[in-house]
Amino acid sequence: MSTNVRPETMERITTPELAKAFIDEQVAEVRAQVGDKKVLLALSGGVDSSVVAALLIKAIGKQLVCVHVNHGLMRKGESENVIEVFGKELDANLVYIDATDRFLNLLAGVDEPEKKRKIIGNEFIEVFNEEAKKLEGIAFLAQGTIYPDILESDGVKAHHNVGGLPEDMKLELVEPVKLLYKDEVRVVGEALGLPHAMVYRQPFPGPGLGVRCLGAITRDRLHALREADAILREEFDNCGLAEKVWQYFIAIPDVKSVGVRDGKRYEGWPAIIRAVNTKDAMTATIEEIPYPILHKITDRITHEVEGINRVLLDLTPKPIGTIEWE
Ligand code: XMP
Repeated sequence: MSTNVRPETMERITTPELAKAFIDEQVAEVRAQVGDKKVLLALSGGVDSSVVAALLIKAIGKQLVCVHVNHGLMRKGESENVIEVFGKELDANLVYIDATDRFLNLLAGVDEPEKKRKIIGNEFIEVFNEEAKKLEGIAFLAQGTIYPDILESDGVKAHHNVGGLPEDMKLELVEPVKLLYKDEVRVVGEALGLPHAMVYRQPFPGPGLGVRCLGAITRDRLHALREADAILREEFDNCGLAEKVWQYFIAIPDVKSVGVRDGKRYEGWPAIIRAVNTKDAMTATIEEIPYPILHKITDRITHEVEGINRVLLDLTPKPIGTIEWE
């Protein structure tokens, strides 16, 4: 499938049967394109790259080399989940790189949001390229480009990602889901047997928790953010909000205030809850979280997470607030 235009006759993939037909067709196409060569894929654990990985594992097995770079800004359990699902359950050829120290060392003391993003983006390309160069016989680069990427940005996702690779690698692209919309990618992912939570994962920015740990990132505040976020996600799972709310997370500003714990002064950061609904991320409304749930989340975060002494709720729609806090 080399065209970048979705044919008008292409049926929307809404059922497991349609997904299976798509998968069979793509497996055959990928095999024909790749032959006995090797394919490289940056596997973030997001929906698109995970579905592409599962599809390619089905098509070419160990000829696919997945590289998962842990930049140290993942949510709790995410890299472990990638290793579990792809490394163990799907028996993929998975290279796992824990580059946490490299990223956090570079980010130390940097408080400007754009600078932080640039450092994370550049270092990601750097780490990925170093790994790519170590691998022998790679002829193709797989990407989780989806149709909105092509429609909205003239294939910018593709160009950006390839743009980082060393010139001499000259890799041909494999983009099996590039004509699919997000909902179709999810149906295909489920048909491929990926876990529901992975396929219906909420959006998560490339720079990860780096954009939610405001100001200069420190390891202790990043740790608190990751733990508090995990509690929020767990409680949203428990009460059914996870299925309903489009995006929800914790942000922690670089501010401390005085509190009291065990009868003693306890300085800590505030954890800010943000939970929004949107269709296209251009505008967003606030999800009304029932007070008993808010109380439970507050109680857990303030008791279980070292360094946090207050929990706040962000009631700001977009506009005027952006969805992320950075
Ligand atoms: P904002 O904060 O601009 O976010 O209202 C809109 C949506 O985009 C997500 N976002 C990103 N997604 N890479 C991504 O893939 C990024 O760098 C990035 N920054 C923000 C954000 O989570 C929200 O869903």
